[in-house]
Amino acid sequence: MAGKIFLSGIQPSGRPHLGNYFGAIRQHIALQEQAGERFYFIADYHALTSSREPQKLREAVRDVALTYLALGLDPERSTLFRQSDVPEVTELTWLLTTVTGMGLLERAHSYKDKLAHGITPSVGLFVYPVLMAADILAYDSTHVPVGKDQVQHLEMAQDMAGSFNAAYGSVFVRPEPMIPEREGLAKVPGLDGEKMSKSYGNDLWIFESGKALKNAVGKIKTDSRPPEEPKDPAGVLLLQFLELFLPAEELEQWKHKVRAGGVGAPGYGHLKQRLVEAIETHFAGARAKREEFVKDPARVDKILAHGAEKARARARQTRDRALAACGLR
Ligand code: ADP
Ligand code: TRP
Repeated sequence: MAGKIFLSGIQPSGRPHLGNYFGAIRQHIALQEQAGERFYFIADYHALTSSREPQKLREAVRDVALTYLALGLDPERSTLFRQSDVPEVTELTWLLTTVTGMGLLERAHSYKDKLAHGITPSVGLFVYPVLMAADILAYDSTHVPVGKDQVQHLEMAQDMAGSFNAAYGSVFVRPEPMIPEREGLAKVPGLDGEKMSKSYGNDLWIFESGKALKNAVGKIKTDSRPPEEPKDPAGVLLLQFLELFLPAEELEQWKHKVRAGGVGAPGYGHLKQRLVEAIETHFAGARAKREEFVKDPARVDKILAHGAEKARARARQTRDRALAACGLR
C-alpha cells in the first residue's frame, strides 16, 4: 500500500461556511498538487443524525458538491462522491462497532457537546464516530485533512483500526489527521466568537454576497468601545476574521491602528466594510464558477456518479478483506 491517500468528508447539514472552507475544503483542494489519491465525500448518512427534512437534505447535498466544484475540485484528480452511494461503509460500521468499547464513544466531545446543547441523542448520534471511522478505513486512507474539532474522532478511528487489527490481523491502515497549523484556520470563530458551526447558527456562508453579506458581517460581535480607545487586537473579533483574508502587511497596519487608538483610528464599522470587500473579492471567481455548475445539474450528477463508482471499487476490497479476516467468508 504505497502512496498517500487523502480522505475527508463534509456533512450536508446546511450551507458550507467559512470554517469549513479555511479548516477543511481549502486544504482538500490544495492537496491536489501533491502526489497521491484523494477521496472527498458528502457525509449524508451522518447528516441524518441531525436532519429529518428530506428536501433540505437533498439541497444541502447538492450545495456541498457545488461548493467543492466551485472552489476548484478537479474530478480528474479528486474522487467526489456521496457517502450513501457506498453501502460497504455501513457494513464496515457494523464490524467496527463490535470492537469498540462503549466507554470510548461515551468520551466523545462532540457527543457530549450535543447533549449539552439539549439534543436528545439517538443511537445513530452515539455511534457517529464509528461510521466516521468506517469512512476513513474503507479507502485505506493515510491522511485525513480536517479542522481541529475532528481530532478526537480521528483518534477514535485509530483506536478502532487498532482493536480490529489486534483481533484479526492487519486489515486496516492507521490514518493520521492533518490539521491546519494556524490556530485561526483550524478553529474559525463564528459571528458570536464561539466556534463557527452550522449547528450553532453563527456561521457565514462561503458564497454570501451583496446585501446579505453586509448583513451577516454586521452581526459579528463587537462592543461599545469608541474607535479612539486603544484596544488589544487579540480582543477584537473582527480582526480575527480579517486575518483570514488580508495579506500579512495590511493586517499589521489595521492591528497597529486599533492598538494605538486616538483620532483617525478605525471604528468597527470601518473594519466591517473592509471585511465585506475582502470576502467579495476572495470568492469572486468561485462564485462565478458555482453559477456555471448550478446551471448544469446533469454535469454535477455525472461527477458524483463517477466518483461513487471509483470509491465503491476501493471500499469493496476493504470490506471483503475485513469479512474474510473475521470469519464471515
Ligand atoms: P459543522 O460543524 O458546521 O457542522 P462539519 O462538521 O460538517 O461542520 O465540518 C466539516 C469540516 O469543516 C470538518 O473538517 C471540520 O473540522 C471543519 N470545520 C467545521 N467548523 C470549523 C471551524 N469553525 N473552524 C475550522 N474548521 C471547521
Ligand atoms: N464528522 C465530520 C464533521 O462533522 C464529517 C465526516 C464524516 C468526516 N466522516 C468523515 C471527516 C471522515 C473526515 C473523515 O466534520
